[in-house]
Amino acid sequence: MSAEKVTVSIIKADVGSVVGHARPHPSMLDAARNVLKDAQKAGTIEDFYVTRVGDDINLYMTHYKGENNSDVHGAAWECFQQATKIAKKMKLYAAGQDILTDAFSGNVKGAGPGSAEMTFEERGSEPLLFFMADKTEPSAYTLPLTRIFMDPFTTTGLVIDKRAKQGFDFEIQDVMANKKVVMSAPEESWSILSLLGDTTRYAIKRINSRSGIGPAAVVSTDKLNMTAGRYVGKDDPVCICRCQSGLPSVGEYTQPFLNNTMLVAGWMRGSHIGAFYPCSPEDSDPTYYDGPPRICCLGFQLNNGKLQGLEPYGAKNGEHIPVDFFGTSTFDEARRNAIRASKFMRSQGPFVPSILGAEEMEYTSRPDVLKELTNRFVSLDEEKPKKASSKKAAAKKAPAKKKKVEVE
Ligand code: 13P
Ligand code: 13P
Ligand code: MG
Ligand code: MG
Repeated sequence: MSAEKVTVSIIKADVGSVVGHARPHPSMLDAARNVLKDAQKAGTIEDFYVTRVGDDINLYMTHYKGENNSDVHGAAWECFQQATKIAKKMKLYAAGQDILTDAFSGNVKGAGPGSAEMTFEERGSEPLLFFMADKTEPSAYTLPLTRIFMDPFTTTGLVIDKRAKQGFDFEIQDVMANKKVVMSAPEESWSILSLLGDTTRYAIKRINSRSGIGPAAVVSTDKLNMTAGRYVGKDDPVCICRCQSGLPSVGEYTQPFLNNTMLVAGWMRGSHIGAFYPCSPEDSDPTYYDGPPRICCLGFQLNNGKLQGLEPYGAKNGEHIPVDFFGTSTFDEARRNAIRASKFMRSQGPFVPSILGAEEMEYTSRPDVLKELTNRFVSLDEEKPKKASSKKAAAKKAPAKKKKVEVE
């Protein structure tokens, strides 16, 4: 076991895709790989794996440089610059979509790409799961993560694993007020849910073990639309999870995605509600109404700071083969359920809850419609005199009232 703490980072961005918002061109992924090969040779990172979900490029990186390191973030930034160049040359759709600034200032935060990073002492065996979602938002992970870490009817480990039973600390972000709070489960479970149930405002950033194992899960919570002050695409989120031995097991993490059809915000134009569709990265092209929102789950073991999948030991240049959990036939039923639920939502057309509430809409024509109608809108109060002018009716009623009073 290494005493030096390892950092596992995912930095991701959508910098253009082939045919609308479907998938990055393979040359863009190759360009990212080449940049990270150099970063590995230079000793900036220990290891890496480049993949995608839908139109988002995901860079998995391991290193000993800690979180928010400018060299590591700089390497990721360079990947997205190179991929953007290719996307622009090919005139791909939304080339450079998530790149909000021309100048890199040492960190991708606020610059467009999303990031999730965790730093910990590598255990004797360190199984990791990497979740990646397209066409949704960071709080999409809240429902599955609360089931996994707070519900003993979902995760038996919370009952029978001594260390898991000690509970977990949740770092919850208020994305509107830009604040965070740490709350503890199981003691504060119901209060935690009273916040997190509002997925438009609160999202889980981190979950830490209370038995000394360190971080258990971390989510990218970069709110792109807030950062830019305008719509630049949903902030399709990633989540890194450590598994087993005091933490939820691999199967406890994957289970909720089969048992539950989960509705999440995003989908078409970032303005709809659709069901999470668990699948392989290869199957993650959003083909039905730009969705439904896709979620992938890839697994690696960590081996002295390096990723170990199904490839032979010592693979170089990021040539890894992860275990693809949602790519299996086990999840066929979940996919069928997701399509069924998504079709049901679509049957509601442009009406809530098929579309999001006004504050959450990424696209809306309503301000323009309202502007045009400014002079045509009439106050309902101003209508009162008109009603009162129907004096005949009022007069007819008045004597009746008087009569009543006389009788009394
Ligand atoms: P094994 O007995 O196969 O190691 O599995 C233990 C476990 O934790 C499964 O979730
Ligand atoms: P992305 O956020 O994945 O680019 O999707 C945007 C969109 O509007 C899809 O309809
Ligand atoms: Mg896109
Ligand atoms: Mg996307």
